[in-house]
Amino acid sequence: MLIKKTDDIKSSEITDEPLYFNRRNFLRGAVLAATTTATGWLYKSLTAQSQVTQTTDKIATVTSQSTGLLPNDKPNSFEEITHYNNFYEFSTSKQGVAPVAKNFVSRPWSVEVTGLANKPKTFDLDELIKLGQPEERIYRHRCVEGWSMVIPWVGFPLHKLLKEVEPLANAKFVEFVTVVDPTQMPNQRGTEVLSWPYVEGLRMDEALHPLTLLATGLYGQTLLPQNGAPLRLVVPWKYGFKGGKSIVKIRLVETQPRTTWSSENPREYGFYSNVNPTVDHPRWSQATERRIGEFGRRDTLMFNGYGEQVASLYEGMDLRKFF
Ligand code: MTE
Repeated sequence: MLIKKTDDIKSSEITDEPLYFNRRNFLRGAVLAATTTATGWLYKSLTAQSQVTQTTDKIATVTSQSTGLLPNDKPNSFEEITHYNNFYEFSTSKQGVAPVAKNFVSRPWSVEVTGLANKPKTFDLDELIKLGQPEERIYRHRCVEGWSMVIPWVGFPLHKLLKEVEPLANAKFVEFVTVVDPTQMPNQRGTEVLSWPYVEGLRMDEALHPLTLLATGLYGQTLLPQNGAPLRLVVPWKYGFKGGKSIVKIRLVETQPRTTWSSENPREYGFYSNVNPTVDHPRWSQATERRIGEFGRRDTLMFNGYGEQVASLYEGMDLRKFF
């Protein structure tokens, strides 16, 4: 994820805990050259000492589905999922997000669904949750940086919400705009880290796909701030950065929206960003991944293992070109 020039990095340095290098290089020089194994050890020793102190509310779910889970996929622990995060608005350190985000206030909250729709509407969060009827979905989660987890999300398919607003025929893409609140998000007090807001997007057929989830919780409880409270996108066949956290606006648009990481570095992060072990990131291989909590590496699966459900969306597209 983090932006470094190719000649600044050796493959031995590729780690799931690289220090942040922004496009203006203001943190140049502060690079932690740790190996994946070393960071794995560091992560384990840190989490062994920490306690889960944040509180969440229980969510009643109607069903539980573990679509496409493989025999060797075991859900990661609540501690792992909530203390190893990417959420740059709070911190560029994965272990640093939870403590900084701890007091983030995400109630009251509303989500504006706007743009090319017959019935655009602003939904209060509770109204949204009721409409969606939360269900549990246990999905693999693959970060573009080369690590992965298995997460028991609670949420509802995005298509339920989109149906409510009646998209117009010329609505071809969906843009997800996340919150800007520099009073609560320290890295939003400047634009050194990223340009804000963090924005993501999907093609309309991707957004309507039954696997695409608006998550409001995990492990049967409301989301903690570090995981994108109160509402975040989950698209399990794409790299994790497509899943914008703390969404405030969903816009139906005609043309492909500008998205945060592909604007920051279009050579490294595409709009589609489907998990693809045969298309390497310019600075590291995507063939394998490290499951958080494990030491060895696993093979990365095409579409993160969801090909049976989603490959048809991309028929006729050159997946090397539309990365
Ligand atoms: N959403 C916002 N608003 N800001 C972020 O920095 N990081 C993305 C994505 N959504 C990010 C975001 C990245 S790179 C990943 S891998 C996932 O969130 C991480 O989600 P997790 O911390 O819940 O595992």
